[in-house]
Amino acid sequence: MNIASIKSQFPIFKQQTPLGKELVYLDTASSAQKPQSVIDAISGFYSGYYANTGRGSYWPAHKATTTFESVREKVARYINVQSKDQVVFTSGTTDSINKLVNAHVIHSLESGDQVLVSEMEHHANLVPWQEACKLKEANIKAIPINEEGEIDFEALELLLKAKTAFVSITAISNVLGTVNDVSRITALAHKAGAKVFVDAAQAIAHKTVDVKTWKADFLAFSAHKLYGPTGVGILYMADDLVNQIKPLSFGGGMITEVGIEESGYRKGPQRHEAGTQNIAGVIGLGAAIDFVDTLPEFELHNHLNELTSLAYELLSEIQGVNILGPEERAGVISFTVEGIHPHDLSTFFNEQGVCIRAGHHCAQPLMNKYKVPATARVSFGIYNSKEDVMTFIKVLKETKAFFE
Ligand SMILES: Cc1ncc(COP(=O)(O)O)c(C=O)c1O
Repeated sequence: MNIASIKSQFPIFKQQTPLGKELVYLDTASSAQKPQSVIDAISGFYSGYYANTGRGSYWPAHKATTTFESVREKVARYINVQSKDQVVFTSGTTDSINKLVNAHVIHSLESGDQVLVSEMEHHANLVPWQEACKLKEANIKAIPINEEGEIDFEALELLLKAKTAFVSITAISNVLGTVNDVSRITALAHKAGAKVFVDAAQAIAHKTVDVKTWKADFLAFSAHKLYGPTGVGILYMADDLVNQIKPLSFGGGMITEVGIEESGYRKGPQRHEAGTQNIAGVIGLGAAIDFVDTLPEFELHNHLNELTSLAYELLSEIQGVNILGPEERAGVISFTVEGIHPHDLSTFFNEQGVCIRAGHHCAQPLMNKYKVPATARVSFGIYNSKEDVMTFIKVLKETKAFFE
């Protein structure tokens, strides 16, 4: 893969930082940069055929509606689901989980039921479940992770002996980079009678989401981590759940007929999409999938794996650096450096034009487990090169030398 030519499609890299440095962006796990094609698709909608969807019969409305709906098909193919009608647009992963919990989980949970999350969950896949459990007097428990930062399957099997309604698990950890064996988790959970929600926020950019193989009951991702726009994402529901569960929200567009006291609700994903949708965002998501589709899958994996392995190897050689999580991982490395606070690290990196993250990464239970308040984190995208990794290591060594 020609990374220089791919990188040239991302306009943000054409400028220098305010301090006159080349921009090295190592925070794709937080949000990915946008290629020109995504930006053009969004501005093309606003300037070429702007109208609301699902309402008007005039041509911009027709074109907006067909383009919007075509993205549902692209998403369905991209994550390998049976039907586009199982894909509901939301404003992102967090929104998907909150809506699912409020519309469905709190109605199906019974007092004393168990909900399982894991110790490596992002707050987005933890706090909404906590609230549901509090409301329904259900028990929330965490599947422990082992020394390597991987799911402890023995512990999971033991936990599943209690009556479990839901298992909610991330496919890839945004802190450890751990790639969870989702198929194994769903098989165990289903055998115990639990439904499984998969947080695919990180996995989506690795082109590894495969709902048919994973057999997830629910799955969500955000477009902005897939080189698409912010404020848009999806919630997938298996089988006929789209028509069976309560609507995720209520209002215009999702009804069949409305009276003062009662209303009827549509079938299909539109049942859950009340009000004017993030049309530009959905169209941008379609362009993002088109963009990722141009990248050969095997080479995409190889590229991200090579960068991650190289950074892991070079980091491990530096004294005083401690890396969290397993060696086998996807695109994310969290680490601490003896004697330097992660926020000081990221400030020094910023001065050299290198964007790295510092903080708890919305995973405080995991930070507690590792007994650190925060870590530094680098993560890679399709525009990163080996030179970016070398710059990162060079700046880290310089920063360390400064503090010594
Ligand atoms: C694993 C994981 N889950 C959920 C989220 C939340 O995604 P969003 O902020 O797009 O809703 C993130 C974002 O970093 C994440 O990494």
